[in-house]
Amino acid sequence: MIQKQNYILGIESSCDDTAAAVIHNGLILSNVVATQKIHEEYGGVVPELASRAHQQNIVPVVQLALRKANIDKKQLSAIAFTRGPGLMGSLLVGTSFSKSLAMGLGIPLIDVNHMQAHILAHFIKAEEQTAPDFPFIALTISGGHTQLVMVTDYFAMEVIGQTLDDAVGEAFDKSGKIFGLPYPSGHLIDKYAQNGNPKAYKFPKPKVGPLDFSFSGLKTAVLYFVEKEVKANPDFVSENLEDLCASLQYTIVDYLMDKLKNAVELTGIKEVAIGGGVSANSGIRTALIEAEKKYSWKTHIPKIEYCTDNAAMIAMVGELKYKQGLFAKYDVVAKARMKM
Ligand code: KG4
Ligand code: ZN
Repeated sequence: MIQKQNYILGIESSCDDTAAAVIHNGLILSNVVATQKIHEEYGGVVPELASRAHQQNIVPVVQLALRKANIDKKQLSAIAFTRGPGLMGSLLVGTSFSKSLAMGLGIPLIDVNHMQAHILAHFIKAEEQTAPDFPFIALTISGGHTQLVMVTDYFAMEVIGQTLDDAVGEAFDKSGKIFGLPYPSGHLIDKYAQNGNPKAYKFPKPKVGPLDFSFSGLKTAVLYFVEKEVKANPDFVSENLEDLCASLQYTIVDYLMDKLKNAVELTGIKEVAIGGGVSANSGIRTALIEAEKKYSWKTHIPKIEYCTDNAAMIAMVGELKYKQGLFAKYDVVAKARMKM
């Protein structure tokens, strides 16, 4: 019989990425992500198509993760899966699959909050990243969320500020759509911004409470500005794409940093971490490195592959919960909305 060791399989299916990863003592042995391309042509995630693609991808993705980790499924100690928040149809695929596999193997099932996982991804052992000390401030920035979180322990998290409307990832993606870029456009805006002038155009920074965010006004301002310019010059966007992207990115990064500064000031906590898809952005990464020197913060930036949706972060939370014996019952249900 194969000896069971502490290997945990993580499964992520909350939005449009089907992902599986294996963790062993804090080290990621495999991290597989199947990104669904089908949504590009619709300019956003189509929930019905996302759940169908998860159905198709989940078995091969899990098989590949086990193969890359060089283990057999019988060696697994537990299955960790994203319970929420996310798209219900997408979550149901990962949840049902994880329950069946855990039950079939007779091993514990561990439910994971996707947003907690974006934060706890910092505890994955990797050369390219450092684990924060408690307490720390986490800025979670993704396509679905924008939150400031005070983290006093692995599972003691308090949301101290959040967006009142769009998430920051949406501000990137919706502006990208206005610039004629395919969905999702955050990484493309980042790429074009490298060669543009960040001060070429001035976009407004919405005024809300010190720890809250608002992005819907920015998107509208970008739309009106582009419409006005295109009337005078139909090639305005293509001729000025790099400056447009650089100016938008500069505005967003500056706004995020303003909020982080407020959070540090109000809590007195100078240990700062970022997480979520938008933390892959080179502007916010550079701004955080600069903040170490400028404000004497201790900053933590995740390895790129742990920024956008992935299952390594789910496996990481799985390992933390496994050590504490925090298991889910086999009748656990997915939750589209879930608190920290
Ligand atoms: O965390 P994530 O993969 O999925 C959600 O949970 O939402 O985040 C996806 C978001 C998208 O809005 C995408 O445009 C954005 O992250 N994103 C970026 C970059 N890479 C991904 N935004 C700005 N710059 C990037 N380099
Ligand atoms: Zn995410």
